[in-house]
Amino acid sequence: MNDYFKPKYECAIRILLAKLEVIHAELSMELERPVITGTSGRIKTWESIEKKTAKKGYEKPDAKALAAICDIAGVRAICVYMDDVYRVAEALKGHQDLKIVRVKDYLKSPKNSGYRSLHLIVEVPVYFRGEMEAVEAEVQLRTSAMDFWACLDHQLRYKRGKKEAKLIGQELKEYSGVVADLDRKMVELRDRIAAI
Ligand code: GTP
Ligand code: MG
Repeated sequence: MNDYFKPKYECAIRILLAKLEVIHAELSMELERPVITGTSGRIKTWESIEKKTAKKGYEKPDAKALAAICDIAGVRAICVYMDDVYRVAEALKGHQDLKIVRVKDYLKSPKNSGYRSLHLIVEVPVYFRGEMEAVEAEVQLRTSAMDFWACLDHQLRYKRGKKEAKLIGQELKEYSGVVADLDRKMVELRDRIAAI
């Protein structure tokens, strides 16, 4: 087990989770309702890092290879409404100590599978052993509906290659559209309720 790489990524995760907690507090106060219903963080497993670096053409998962992967540290925030996803993203962009490296908007352009989420690749400043290192991490923002869709899709991925999996995948893709419609409808109804 290769644990030497872990501490700085763990710190990056903690910093990002703390930021999301603060953003939740400020947006919930401003909007007078909850905005983020849950957060989680994870470090990519060593097995998965080995696989990904090999796929990217690196002979061994050394420091250079690890630097080529941007999601060794990952955090996720589940939002109530679709527009909250963008509110949280904007708030993160306002944090001057973070560098936003890339934004992947799979809400506007869902993946082929039907996957929807907003991904931000960020650099988090981590002070470690007397030096500051900008540690890359992936932030995934999505609604509860997008989250349960992605969980089911993730389960299906383990069954890829099985005969039934293809059909279920097609069906699941249709439900990605249903999820998007539901998310849009909820925003509309929320605003109509607020206008009463
Ligand atoms: P990797 O997918 O990590 O190799 O990198 P990438 O450059 O394709 O990044 P992308 O933003 O597309 O995906 C990163 C992460 O998003 C994945 O590790 C998953 O957590 C999630 N993800 C992406 N596509 C899917 C999908 O089709 N289904 C599910 N359930 N999750 C997905
Ligand atoms: Mg991918």
